[in-house]
Amino acid sequence: MNIILLAPPAAGKGTQSSKIVSFYHLKHISTGDLLRNCLKKNDDLATSLREVMNAGKLVSDEIILKLIENELVDSDYEGVVLDGFPRNLTQAKKYEELLNKLNQTLDLVLYLDTEKEVLEKRIVGRRTCSSCGKIYNVMIEEEKPKVEELCDNCNISLTHREDDNSETFTKRFETYMKETEPLIQFYENKGILKRIDASLSTEEVFNLIRKEMDLLK
Ligand code: AP5
Repeated sequence: MNIILLAPPAAGKGTQSSKIVSFYHLKHISTGDLLRNCLKKNDDLATSLREVMNAGKLVSDEIILKLIENELVDSDYEGVVLDGFPRNLTQAKKYEELLNKLNQTLDLVLYLDTEKEVLEKRIVGRRTCSSCGKIYNVMIEEEKPKVEELCDNCNISLTHREDDNSETFTKRFETYMKETEPLIQFYENKGILKRIDASLSTEEVFNLIRKEMDLLK
C-alpha cells in the first residue's frame, strides 16, 4: 500500500502519518524530517539547506530524490506513507519511475484540504519532541501536552521549528500554491486523489482517512 499525503504547510501531514503508520504498520517517509536530520550535522550542506528551508523555498529535486531513493531501496517495508513528497511535477514523475522500477504502484493520494487561516494558527503553536517526534500544539486545546512545554512520553522540553513563524509560513504557503498545488489536478486526472476535510479534529480527520484506506483492502 503506497500512500501520499498531499497538503499545504501545517495541514496535519505529520500528525496523520503517525496515526496511519501505527494503525496500518506502514513505513513513514517525511522529507521534512529527513532534511531536519541533515541540519543536525552542521556541515556545508546543512548551512545551505537551512538557508533554503528558512526562506520557505523548495530544496533541490536532486537532493530530495536521492533521499527518497535511499529510503525506498534500502528498507524492508510493506507500504509507505509519503509526507511532504512529491512537492512538484518533476518529483511526482520521478516517483512514478521509481515505483515502476520496484514493480510497485501508487494506491492513494490523500489531499488534506484546509483554509489558510487555520494553517497559520496551527503553525505558530506547533511544538515537537526531539526525542520521540510527537507533535503538539500549544494554541489548540486538544493538541496541548499534559504539562506545559513538556513531552507526554519523554518528559523533555518541546522544541519549536526554526521555520515555524508567520513570515516563513507566508513564503512556504506561496511556494506550496505555485509548486505543489498543481499536483492536485495531476493526481485527480489519474483517479487516485481523495479530498479529506482537514479542518476537523485530528481524530475526525483520521476517521475519514481510515474510510478511504479501508476501501483499498
Ligand atoms: P515539511 O517539514 O514537510 O513542512 P510542511 O510541508 O510545511 O509541513 P509541516 O511539517 O509544517 O506540517 P504538517 O502538514 O506535517 O502538519 P503537522 O502534522 O505538523 O518541510 C519543511 C521544509 O523542507 C520545506 O519548506 C522545504 O524547504 C523542505 N522540503 C521538505 N520536503 C521537500 C520536498 N519534497 N522537496 C523540496 N523541499 C522540501 O501539524 C501542524 C500543527 O497543527 C501541529 O501543531 C499539530 O498539533 C496541529 N494539528 C494538526 N492537525 C490538526 C487538527 N486536525 N486539528 C487541530 N490541530 C492540528
